[in-house]
Amino acid sequence: MPTVLVVYDSKTGNTEKMALKIAEGAKQVGVNVIMKRVEQAKIEDLLRADGIVFGSPTYYGQMSASMKALIDKSVEVHGQLEGKVGAAFTSSGGTATGAETTLLSILEAMLVHGMIVQGDPHNKHYGAAAVGPPSDKERRSCNKLGERAARLVIKLKK
Ligand SMILES: Cc1cc2nc3c(=O)[nH]c(=O)nc-3n(C[C@H](O)[C@H](O)[C@H](O)COP(=O)(O)O)c2cc1C
Repeated sequence: MPTVLVVYDSKTGNTEKMALKIAEGAKQVGVNVIMKRVEQAKIEDLLRADGIVFGSPTYYGQMSASMKALIDKSVEVHGQLEGKVGAAFTSSGGTATGAETTLLSILEAMLVHGMIVQGDPHNKHYGAAAVGPPSDKERRSCNKLGERAARLVIKLKK
């Protein structure tokens, strides 16, 4: 069964709530889902996954330092994440206060790895974003992102 890895950083729990919904959405499609806080994630976890979803709080319009540290460490396996599915999510304190730049900073790193990032023409185009504790609508959008990432993994595995 293909595996989707959800790695997140969260100091006050908002991004974690999003991570849980993303994992739920991916599971619904029938993939194996592994969830890890960023401090627990190992480079081997990235290697084993078919799809990787990174979530970070928005810090000064960028991902958190802990998430960036994991990404920088992934240089150890540069070239080996090519072809894996990637997606991103973030929790911010406001609207238009850095969420999109945070999502794009994560997606940029994924593209540098040669990963496959799917946009969304209908909803949040760059990934899931929520302001503070995710609302019901934002939770549904997280669920959908998990589902879409998992569906793409399955499609590419065929
Ligand atoms: C160091 C720091 C920098 C932050 N920078 C931003 C920012 O640039 N834009 C924003 O909207 N919120 C910013 N915030 C607010 C967080 O993104 C927000 O509280 C988020 O929901 C925290 O997620 P968490 O509960 O998963 O830790 C910042 C918070 C901290 C602690």
